[in-house]
Amino acid sequence: MSAQEWDERYGGQERLFSDNPNDALVAEVAGTAPGQALDVGCGEGGDAIWLARQGWKVTATDISRVAVERGAKIAADTAPEVADDIAWVRADLAVEHPPARSFDLVSAQYFALKKDRGEEPLRALLAAVAPGGVLLYVGHDPAGFPPDAEFDPAEYVLPGDVAKLLDDDWQVEVDEIRPRTGEGKQDHPHDVVLKARRVR
Ligand SMILES: C[S@@+](CC[C@H](N)C(=O)[O-])C[C@H]1O[C@@H](n2cnc3c(N)ncnc32)[C@H](O)[C@@H]1O
Repeated sequence: MSAQEWDERYGGQERLFSDNPNDALVAEVAGTAPGQALDVGCGEGGDAIWLARQGWKVTATDISRVAVERGAKIAADTAPEVADDIAWVRADLAVEHPPARSFDLVSAQYFALKKDRGEEPLRALLAAVAPGGVLLYVGHDPAGFPPDAEFDPAEYVLPGDVAKLLDDDWQVEVDEIRPRTGEGKQDHPHDVVLKARRVR
């Protein structure tokens, strides 16, 4: 989907996605020492706000201007105590790359990147992780998609596609399919979770 299509999708509803943080983010990041985080495809910012509340300095980035502007407003209205800890950036991460080795956490939760954009955007996300930092890449389990789903999950990057790019600089800490417990589990009951740490 293009930026315009995402803008139309967000613009067509007062709220498209949950304001609660995603299950896998909470499971893997709660209680860890905060630092600099990049939220990739942040949408309306439920994860970014949660991260800021855990003490992280967050760059929340999305291709949709409607989404990032909504996220910034929600943060200002509902989490004013941490709103200044989140930088909202409209960017197409298929072509605009984050700064290298800059983030202690790069989190991509259901980031809708098509495979036909090639490996370069994924390599840029990996490059953005600082030494000692973590990449958390979470997708919907394609096995849970109904045959009449509005899009084909096989066309989109999944954690397994990212795992193939990891070399000796990385240690895989989680690579599994797990049930979701929070909102969204009716439509997509399982997450595919990849958590990898840059060891050098
Ligand atoms: C399924 S939504 C997930 C949003 C959010 N992470 C969440 O869990 O609620 C996918 C997000 O990826 C964003 N996105 C898609 N392609 C993108 C791209 N090339 N660059 C940046 N963001 C993109 C969309 O605008 C959308 O907000």
